[in-house]
Amino acid sequence: MERRAFLSSALASAAGIAITPRMAHAAEQSELENIIFTDSDPGHWKGKETTHVPVVEIKDGLMTVTTPHPMSEAHFIVSHSVVLAGGKLLGRKTFTWKDSPVSKHTLPAGYKGKVIVTSTCNQHDWWVRKLSV
Ligand SMILES: [Fe+2]
Repeated sequence: MERRAFLSSALASAAGIAITPRMAHAAEQSELENIIFTDSDPGHWKGKETTHVPVVEIKDGLMTVTTPHPMSEAHFIVSHSVVLAGGKLLGRKTFTWKDSPVSKHTLPAGYKGKVIVTSTCNQHDWWVRKLSV
């Protein structure tokens, strides 16, 4: 009987180790619902994706980030941020309504890995594009 309890406990522990990262990811997504918006998860801003998700173009290590969003005094893109693997902030640019929502960032030479680009609208919150280079 003790052996059976031990085996059950060992199996549950093994299963817990295998399931925990997935469960943590799902919990994180749920906690961030309607806080962080993406192409695939626009939340309550469904329909706003095309004018809020940042567009990224990379040529020879120079990254150009554009948000195809109209700019007016009442409604504009506030900032872009670019974060690399390990949470390293590559750059941030803020805008006024008179600016064009375009920023340029130089990747570290030879950089390969994750890039997270954000665009913040003063009315429609925080939008994210994730990519790998
Ligand atoms: Fe907006």
